[in-house]
Amino acid sequence: MLKIGNLTLKSNLILSPMAGITDLPFRLLNREFGAELAFVEMINARSLGYNSKKTRFMLSTGAQDKPLGVQLLGCEPNFILRALDILEKYEFDLLDFNSACPAKKVTRRGEGASLLKDPKKLNQLLKLVVKNSSRPVTVKIRAGWDKDSLNAKEVALYAQDAGVKALFIHGRTKAQGYSGTPDYKAIKSVKDALKIPVIASGDILSARLAKKMLDETGCNGLAVARGSLGNPWIFREIPAFLKTGKILPRPTSQEVVRIILKHLEMCASFYGERIGVTIFRKFVSWYTRGFRKIRPLREKASRAMTKSDILKLSAEFLAAN
Ligand SMILES: Cc1cc2nc3c(=O)[nH]c(=O)nc-3n(C[C@H](O)[C@H](O)[C@H](O)COP(=O)(O)O)c2cc1C
Repeated sequence: MLKIGNLTLKSNLILSPMAGITDLPFRLLNREFGAELAFVEMINARSLGYNSKKTRFMLSTGAQDKPLGVQLLGCEPNFILRALDILEKYEFDLLDFNSACPAKKVTRRGEGASLLKDPKKLNQLLKLVVKNSSRPVTVKIRAGWDKDSLNAKEVALYAQDAGVKALFIHGRTKAQGYSGTPDYKAIKSVKDALKIPVIASGDILSARLAKKMLDETGCNGLAVARGSLGNPWIFREIPAFLKTGKILPRPTSQEVVRIILKHLEMCASFYGERIGVTIFRKFVSWYTRGFRKIRPLREKASRAMTKSDILKLSAEFLAAN
């Protein structure tokens, strides 16, 4: 169990936000396997004001998609206030503020990870968000800007002071992007300094690595990101390993195909067949990792246009595995 403000989570296993990935079908699928809290991909405060079809799609949810987090990206108070106002009419349970995104197009505008360089500004923005949001507010940070400025503890204390109810930390610096190993010590130093729950992210790619994160940092929760790509089973494997010390057997090829077809169907009914298949096809590589004769399959998958294209590929996959 994990409490974040007035929100009580049944477990501390979280599906971390991933741009271009954590749409409604992906969230629902991972929830079936045990992801408790899940996130919509980050939404820019400025673009939320355009009320585009894309943003409305991103914020689509349903009765099974709970509890749900929305993540806001921004640095200008007027746009943030407008975004909070617009978000009021949407269904979700927690609002996270992004101070972690390393993309150049984000940091050069002073948003995302660039706020790590100005913890006082982050503190002011978070105060504004906390004051104007009806949902519990959290923040996502990184270990620091680069290896010479590992200031996560200072940033975290400023965030806590602003009234956030929990803190997410990706244990890499902005300079690392998504490569190299996460800095477990930086996460631990944040955990030891804060009173609010600290949820860790970074290389939770397997049940063993989930345990390592818990053991080395003492964190209150685990936010799984790339470990869930083509691998919803990770949300079963982690609690099973933590409870029994045993690694569950990996899914058979039949089970993988069952989930491929299920995920495909969910995408097709959410987006319509043509767009749904285009969105889904990148998952084929992830689902088939570690199996035999997958290279030609992946190439064909990258050109798939219809559900029946994916069905044919699934039959080929089963024949080879
Ligand atoms: C494709 C992709 C998109 C991501 N998008 C977001 C995002 O929108 N918001 C966010 O806070 N983190 C985002 N992240 C970061 C993840 O949530 C996570 O913190 C990070 O990948 C570290 O975990 P991992 O090493 O287990 O993948 C993204 C990561 C990936 C790989």
